[in-house]
Amino acid sequence: MSQIPTYVTAVPNGTEKGLYMAVDLGGTNFRVCSIHLNGDTTFNLTFIKVPIPKELMVAQSSQELFAFLAKQIEIFLKTHHEQHFEAHVRRRLTISSPDGYKDENVFRLGFTFSFPVRQVGINKGTLIRWTKGFDIPDAVGKDVCALLQDEIDKLHLPVKVAALVNDTVGTLMARSYTSPGKTGTVLGAIFGTGTNGAYVEKLANIKKPMTGDYDKSTGDMVINTEWGSFDNQLNVLPNTTWDIELDKASVNPGIQMYEKRVSGMFLGEIVRLVLQDMLKNPSISLFKDENSSHNDWRSTTSIAQQSGVYQQWGLDTSIMSVAAADNTPELSTLRQELESVLHIYSPALEDAQAFKAIAGAVGRRAARLSAVAIAAVVLQTGKMTDPSSEGEPIDIGVDGSLVEHYPYFRDMIYETLRAIDGIGEEGAKRIRIGIAKDGSGVGAALIALVAAGMEKTKD
Ligand code: BG6
Ligand code: GLC
Repeated sequence: MSQIPTYVTAVPNGTEKGLYMAVDLGGTNFRVCSIHLNGDTTFNLTFIKVPIPKELMVAQSSQELFAFLAKQIEIFLKTHHEQHFEAHVRRRLTISSPDGYKDENVFRLGFTFSFPVRQVGINKGTLIRWTKGFDIPDAVGKDVCALLQDEIDKLHLPVKVAALVNDTVGTLMARSYTSPGKTGTVLGAIFGTGTNGAYVEKLANIKKPMTGDYDKSTGDMVINTEWGSFDNQLNVLPNTTWDIELDKASVNPGIQMYEKRVSGMFLGEIVRLVLQDMLKNPSISLFKDENSSHNDWRSTTSIAQQSGVYQQWGLDTSIMSVAAADNTPELSTLRQELESVLHIYSPALEDAQAFKAIAGAVGRRAARLSAVAIAAVVLQTGKMTDPSSEGEPIDIGVDGSLVEHYPYFRDMIYETLRAIDGIGEEGAKRIRIGIAKDGSGVGAALIALVAAGMEKTKD
């Protein structure tokens, strides 16, 4: 795994204060927020959120994407911080001077950029590779903070990109701010479009060279594991024909192999590939059109030609949540959903039962694999056996559409944790997994605060 040092050397304790901005790229939506940290574990968040246009995710040039992001920042400032914006526009010349960023009216911004980045300082890092369907080759190897700052400067906005943050790191920081405890939060994890985790490691255990400035006094640093790329060689991960098919047709074959078995972007596609195989098999009676005598397998089903079942990425993972949530004998909600969303006409109870079983197996495997990553980090921190944390909860912050919306996902994680050596029944009771909803914005603000402190120390 990449195991990226983040230059973040402490987690917050809830007393931090100030007004910061954050932008968040890499989940389902792009978000721009301003966060007022109240210093008493609470905060006020104002945000806008927009979907990223698909064409910008696979564009030839990353400039278009970053220009789009800067434009959204401008819209946000004009809408929610008009006075601040206007005051700044009048003083634009000061900002473009070399010391302009020291202007007190300039917002410090935490940039949550949820892709693997080789971080070389708190606000500097080069993109290692795109994940989650993004593919803009010219950005690889470039400093993503500089790419964003350039576009912000073209619009003369009063914003300095002060911190570069992975969403898992933001989640870890946000959870620590809102639920401070004796042992602190040990892990921030995302189970959403993608999956990843960031945890607190002893500086002494970090062997990678680190060139940027950081505070060594805590003896710790947050590590972004990029566990989505765990076991790309497939030495231990389960591998089915559908996993192989999904990977081959993806934009990054052979990469993010753990993520491709766990996260929301991929689970629906695995289910779709299983269904497609079953439909092709004449001896399996699934979604069959009993009156059809056609030879093409597509025409022998009760599925409309435009159905997502026939298209890559056509089956959204959200329908798996509907399947998991519907426990009625008639599965009526699921059957309705299959009809309205997947255009499968009048699915029989047996069809819906089959769908529920397949989706359940794919979802359960994802949850069980998620538990393995969580357990590995918990064991690495040594807190399970450390006498000074005996009996204390081991706190974990999580975010992402899968853990938030897939029913029983956390229950299945706990069920697995209990079965893992070194955790067991008693250990699982100590592990407290809590949602840090929209945490990475708050987390990015907290890191921007640390970065602003570092700027002052340098002065
Ligand atoms: C959001 C966070 O709540 O969750 C993002 O603000 C994060 O930073 C996202 O990337 C992950 O979930 P999803 O489901 O949007 O990928
Ligand atoms: C992908 C990204 C990683 C991010 C995760 C969750 O795995 O590579 O950086 O944290 O998705 O969004």
